Amino acid sequence: EETLRTVAAARNLRIGAAVNDRALETDNGYRDKLKYEFNSVTPENAMKWVNVEPEPGVYTWARADAIVSFAQENKQMVRGHTLVWHGGLPTWVSNGSLSDQELRAALQRHIQTTVKRYAGRVAVWDVVNEVLAEDGTLRQSIWLKRLGPGYIADAFRWARAADPSAKLYINDFGAEWSTPKRAGLYNLVRDLRAQGVPIDGVGFQTHSLIQDPMPDTTPLTQLKSTLQLFAGLGVDVAVTELDVRLKLPVDEGKLAAQGEVYRRAAGACLAVARCVSLTMWSLTDKYSWVPSGVPGWGAAHPLDEKLGKKPAYLQLRSGL
Ligand code: XIL
Repeated sequence: EETLRTVAAARNLRIGAAVNDRALETDNGYRDKLKYEFNSVTPENAMKWVNVEPEPGVYTWARADAIVSFAQENKQMVRGHTLVWHGGLPTWVSNGSLSDQELRAALQRHIQTTVKRYAGRVAVWDVVNEVLAEDGTLRQSIWLKRLGPGYIADAFRWARAADPSAKLYINDFGAEWSTPKRAGLYNLVRDLRAQGVPIDGVGFQTHSLIQDPMPDTTPLTQLKSTLQLFAGLGVDVAVTELDVRLKLPVDEGKLAAQGEVYRRAAGACLAVARCVSLTMWSLTDKYSWVPSGVPGWGAAHPLDEKLGKKPAYLQLRSGL
């Protein structure tokens, strides 16, 4: 039988999933799904700063390494996630004990150490994640406040120097349709490129295709034109964290509507030549950030809690 992986490979598309590192260690069924259904993986949390350097100079790579080894064994691309974010920070970085200068040096060292370690094994990096505010200006993060707006260009340059062959992305949510944030992201990417900053791609998280109880079709209907718009800047584009959350409890109608959304999202990416990858933010409801991240919502993924195929899986495959 065809899998997502076989169908996507025939279309020259990377199909990916966020990897839960604990499930990868303990759940054979999960490992099999990951291996047969996907040709790209993104560590869901294992490469975030708090998990690779919980104390200054104390590196804990084991879980990230395990995902990268798994990917190599199974001939999968790795999307590294993520080097600069306001979340997932170790306390020693976020608690304000470092001076501005020390903070900048710590960020540079973090980027260089991480990207060098995985050079040749991680093909794509989400260099900066969620740097925009809803109004399209730069987010008031620790990075902006302490280092100034130049931190974004610096991060890309440091990453490029550490692995010249990796593709470097800016990644965000809420920019899949015509929002002020999308405009801000567009202008930012255009300006960075004009300044010669090494940015190769734009990632759209795409957590926006929610069902309550009917789909809000605006993000969905604009996804393709948004991908096209950014491709026009001469960069690759990708759907990096797709999920379609449902308001609980679920019923057959919601599951069917969800399937339709997955199918159409796949179609949007396939319709844009520069849309190079489509990643699900979890393959299964068994391991999902949604119920805790967005209380009252869930069942957001293509496989159910027993790793069985939902309408979303079948529709996604038929949309590829
Ligand atoms: C989430 C993970 O899925 C959770 O397990 C973790 O507790 C918090 O981070 N946007 C991102 C991802 O870029 O890194 C986030 O992942 C989900 C939202």
